[in-house]
Amino acid sequence: MTTTLPDTATDLFAHALRYENRADPYPYYTRMLRQPVTCMDDGTWLVSGHREISQLLHDPRISADRLNPDAPKPAARSLLVLDPPRHDQLRRLVTQEFIPRIMGMRDHLDTLVARLLDAHRSDRPGQWDVVADLAYPLPVTVICELLGVPREDEAVFGSLARRLTRGLDPIDTQTEDELRELQQAREELVQYLEGLIARRRAAPGDDLLSGLMFGTDPAGGMGPVDLRVTLGLLLIAGHETTVNLIANGTLALLRHPDALARLRTDPDLATPLVEEVLRYDPPVQMSGRSTLADIDIAGTTIPRGARVRLMLAAGNRDPRRFPDPDRFVPDRPDNTHLGFGGGLHYCIGATLARAEAQIALTALARRLESPRLLADPPPYRENAILRGPEQLPVSFERLGPGERTA
Ligand code: HEM
Repeated sequence: MTTTLPDTATDLFAHALRYENRADPYPYYTRMLRQPVTCMDDGTWLVSGHREISQLLHDPRISADRLNPDAPKPAARSLLVLDPPRHDQLRRLVTQEFIPRIMGMRDHLDTLVARLLDAHRSDRPGQWDVVADLAYPLPVTVICELLGVPREDEAVFGSLARRLTRGLDPIDTQTEDELRELQQAREELVQYLEGLIARRRAAPGDDLLSGLMFGTDPAGGMGPVDLRVTLGLLLIAGHETTVNLIANGTLALLRHPDALARLRTDPDLATPLVEEVLRYDPPVQMSGRSTLADIDIAGTTIPRGARVRLMLAAGNRDPRRFPDPDRFVPDRPDNTHLGFGGGLHYCIGATLARAEAQIALTALARRLESPRLLADPPPYRENAILRGPEQLPVSFERLGPGERTA
């Protein structure tokens, strides 16, 4: 395989994005690491080294705005693409309402996972699609409950989120039909969220949406536009990523039977194991930034106003940072992966996502007896950035009895 890999950053990036390489983009990332910071033909800088990505994530001369600093900005932007001080104000409002609501959730997550597994008869051999039957419904239910999206809207909402995530991929990988469809989905989301906000304004609850709206912060709650945009961000970030963490984790376990056997008897392994999944096969493969000043890095200078691609998944395989980076080591020590990003924009949902994945993977390991992958590699979703299997069919001999994992 190595001999057929292209050499230039432009070609390596293009190949890594191609759908035919979705199941295994890693050889392209490894090749990128030969030059941890480099400029592509379109002027975008490609950063693949672990140290360099971490450095840029913490550099105040970097903007989370994916556009050129001089380009006009759309009116409604989420905190994900905003810089301080606006970013910090919005992030504070979100974390104040979000973090207390996810504390003490493990028992509830355990119940939700058990319910999803029990939905299948336990006395017969069976087949499962880990994505449709567990990895997808779990985070959708959790984020909808947290935000106060009524249960009957979960399906509407889930399909909207799926349609919208494709919009995160580089625009030149999308067809005109896809772009039109994306615009349509965006309009439907705005309409849906405005309706939800109006209903909640009339009848507040104790959910996150009501909290964000009325706020306990001395500065008050969020205005209507920020509220809508933040809700949209939380709904999409809240499950389109976690579904991939659970699916990628299941895939890694089924490909590494030793790790699966260990997890079955040692639930403490779940914590380092989920960190290793976030390193080895991260749900968010890359992120974008732009530069506010010339930045000297790795012996070169990224000029002001440049667009930058931070290849998180490549940094996670950097041999300068991780010994034997292509090996899945379920209890890897000192695992400072980039799976949740870093710096000011470090993932707000990291604690929740970790808990969901730890509980789901432990329950799968304990309860599915002799599980086997029915397709390896499984079919992947189109998305290059939020990357993961579309389906993950497995067969098993029996579904063991449920017991609490949390
Ligand atoms: C496995 C699951 C998840 C992964 C891998 C993940 C990954 C990430 C990454 C890499 C970033 C940084 C993006 C950047 O710097 O450009 C991020 C930011 C963010 N994540 Fe997550 N995420 C996950 C789950 C969640 C969940 C469950 C929520 C909320 C319910 C969430 C909410 C957010 C928010 C609001 C931000 C923006 C933070 C900011 O800009 O300050 N994420 N996530």
